[in-house]
Amino acid sequence: DSPRVQLSVATGTAGPEISRHLFGQFAEHLGTGVYGGIWVGKDSKIPNTRGIRKDVVEALRAIKVPNIRWPGGCYADKYHWRDGIGPQSRRPKTLNPDWGGVIEPHSFGTHEFMDFVAQVGAEPYLSVNVGSGSVREMADWLEYMTSAKPSTLAQERVRNGAAQPFKLPLLGIGNEVWGCGGSMTAEEYAAELKKYATFAFNFHPDQQAPGQKMRRIASGPNRDDYRFTEVVMKHVKEHAIYSWGIEGLSLHSYTGMEKWPPPHPATGFGIDEYMFILNATLDMETFVTKHSAIMDRYDPEKKVALVVDEWGAWYSPTPGSNPAFLQQQNSQRDAILAALNINIFARHADRVRIANIAQMINVLQAMILTSDTGMVLTPSYHAFKLYVPFQDAKRLELKHDGQPFKLAGAELPRLDALAARGLDGKVWVSLTNVHPTESLRVELKADANATAARGETLAAPRVDSVNTFQQPALVTPKPIQARQDAACGCLVLDLAPASLTVVSLDAH
Ligand code: AHR
Repeated sequence: DSPRVQLSVATGTAGPEISRHLFGQFAEHLGTGVYGGIWVGKDSKIPNTRGIRKDVVEALRAIKVPNIRWPGGCYADKYHWRDGIGPQSRRPKTLNPDWGGVIEPHSFGTHEFMDFVAQVGAEPYLSVNVGSGSVREMADWLEYMTSAKPSTLAQERVRNGAAQPFKLPLLGIGNEVWGCGGSMTAEEYAAELKKYATFAFNFHPDQQAPGQKMRRIASGPNRDDYRFTEVVMKHVKEHAIYSWGIEGLSLHSYTGMEKWPPPHPATGFGIDEYMFILNATLDMETFVTKHSAIMDRYDPEKKVALVVDEWGAWYSPTPGSNPAFLQQQNSQRDAILAALNINIFARHADRVRIANIAQMINVLQAMILTSDTGMVLTPSYHAFKLYVPFQDAKRLELKHDGQPFKLAGAELPRLDALAARGLDGKVWVSLTNVHPTESLRVELKADANATAARGETLAAPRVDSVNTFQQPALVTPKPIQARQDAACGCLVLDLAPASLTVVSLDAH
């Protein structure tokens, strides 16, 4: 007999909005994340639209990617935007020092990125160069992109093929400034931040009204560096005058990278590793709670969002790959890891309003792996697809009596669940059976009479099952439907071990 959990959803409540931007992606010039993964060039035999892979765009459209952060990461603080505009043949070749010292051809620059984002139906999130750039370089880039008036920079953009200005809703001011972004103290960065934030003018005519303005996101702490948050938030509160201020503070937290080189394998692991990694990923709950509490002291109205713009699993690289390319496989465990983190963000949706998994294609916890002509959708991709109905949904209260379980020296919740009323008006419930070997029977009730629950479930033969080019659909969602049980007056769903299920309820 499987263990049972009773779960009830209060369908009348309407908690904070689960912003679609929690499902953001990140594409850095790193390994084959951009070159090969997105950009193949117009003359490639791989089907493309103006140099951008068609298969990848189609797959990303299906998960409704809300925003894409670019060009880094560490690379953002080496990136000089002028290298990536104008005729391809005249773009300089530079080096990418953080990621293997490879040649950066600059074939994928501002216009190609904006084209890609538009093809996907997402919004751009640019990270500007603070570490080796200047305030003027950033201000010029913004004018080049956003001015509708014929300034010299805007005319140059028009000559480069974009008659209309680009909308830019999200601007990151530096990346990991305490490390690869400039090795600054929090105080040193706070002083830089006010200059960058003051001169971050967005001229787009549609972005002048209050609800439409570009959001400026400060570089923020790593994991539990609470002092960094304290210093930056205090500085913003005490010194934000004239036009400077921020609308977001970034937080980065990777799972499995407690030492270098990253010690945990992406595949071929057992129950111990499964438990260790999922237990470690739940640190996110502590980090978000504690950083939010500091932010509450300086910003009780929650005007500044906590932006978790790098999160995910970081394992040892795929054997035989270039270790600087951060390539790793992606297993059923990663789908569970993604669900646990998304649920944490959603439960903190009043403060956490943007998040970006690292990284979208071929790098770290990727949605998509590409070969020359092939493409594999990972279990993490399928998790993001299952969560689409939660984008911009209103969170609903939910209760269950699931108890934690212990295995291999670690403790995890048996069930992790989230409920929301979607933009489609339906009640959606996400159920993660975290236990690696035991099924779970969920007896689901809603305060409104729930007569049916149907959706999809993502399960796998093993916790380390992966999709490969040879076997691309081993881990794929399958339909699931609850059965009505007159004895309990509830809907019964049997969840496979280590599975993620998303259902909608017929509730009247
Ligand atoms: O995502 C890989 C790297 O991790 C990013 O470039 C950097 O911001 C972080 O340290």
